[in-house]
Amino acid sequence: MKRDFLTIADWSEKELLQILDLSKKMKANPKKFAKSLEGKSVALIFEKQSLRTHVTFEIGIKQLGANTVYLSNADISLGKRESIYDTAKNLERWVDAIVIRTFAHKNVTDLARHAGSCIVNALTDFEHPCQAVGDFLTIQEHLGSFKGKKFAWVGDGNNVCHSLMLLAAKVGMNFTAVTPAGLLPDTNIVNLAKEIAAPTGARIELSTNPPEGVRDADVIYTDVWVSMGQEADREIKMKAFSGFQLNAELMKNAKPTAVFMHCLPAHRGEEVTDEVMDSPQSIVFDEAENRLHTQKAIIYTLLKGQSREKLNTGSGRRKLTHSRGTTRNNSRTARKR
Ligand code: CP
Ligand code: NVA
Repeated sequence: MKRDFLTIADWSEKELLQILDLSKKMKANPKKFAKSLEGKSVALIFEKQSLRTHVTFEIGIKQLGANTVYLSNADISLGKRESIYDTAKNLERWVDAIVIRTFAHKNVTDLARHAGSCIVNALTDFEHPCQAVGDFLTIQEHLGSFKGKKFAWVGDGNNVCHSLMLLAAKVGMNFTAVTPAGLLPDTNIVNLAKEIAAPTGARIELSTNPPEGVRDADVIYTDVWVSMGQEADREIKMKAFSGFQLNAELMKNAKPTAVFMHCLPAHRGEEVTDEVMDSPQSIVFDEAENRLHTQKAIIYTLLKGQSREKLNTGSGRRKLTHSRGTTRNNSRTARKR
């Protein structure tokens, strides 16, 4: 049975900690895994811009011995040139996994439903789970542990915030989302995080007051105020974020040992000042590096032991009669029945 990496919510605390452990092993000894996915192929669909996610997936997958093919929106026009169903049914014949960065989260869940290939969410409007895993490896390296520590998110209650909140809940780290009143994280995510946190002991809280919300935090995290695809809301958002800039003054409310994090790209002078970005507390480039190691571990976890035969007869199969009257009995999947 294939697995997908669409949301942090789908993976247990144990599995997520295993991915972090594997990431550490891959980081310490990359050569040991050099041919571990030889013969596999991965498609990288990017409908939005990317530096970190694109480079780290492309390089990381190659470091594991697998092939990649990059598809921009100009190449495939996802959902417009042909349906997502047809895209899925083509790609599953060629590739073992599909890494996808797109707008609507539904595009990713639809692709996962129809394709036998493993799907990895490389950012949607709703979640950025690969970012969260890279960040929690970075936190583990700097803080040693999660339980009882405080993570303060400052800014928009956005996709990155959602994935980090869910992961904090999974591993028992307290999480406060400090956002303007009109830009809270999604209520369903907050409720889900609280549910997940009940057995792990994490406190999931919301605040609209930056100095109060970041008090005694071990980790302070921010992101751009206007995410990709939300450019039309820029003016309204910029007003709402008055008082939310991560500057030296606001950092004083956190623990003196607190680390500063940002998924990047950063808009220096907007959500964060140079003095914070470039301070000794800033670990933003460690985060960027760890995207490589953690994404290798995610891809390896999904693909190791999966054969394409299994993938192609997996959950992506559905019976369908086309309007032109052709059935799928000439397909490889059908021949196997
Ligand atoms: N943090 C992150 O996902 O960066 P990119 O948008 O450059 O991939
Ligand atoms: N919230 C940002 C994250 C970029 C990595 C966006 O979606 O544009």
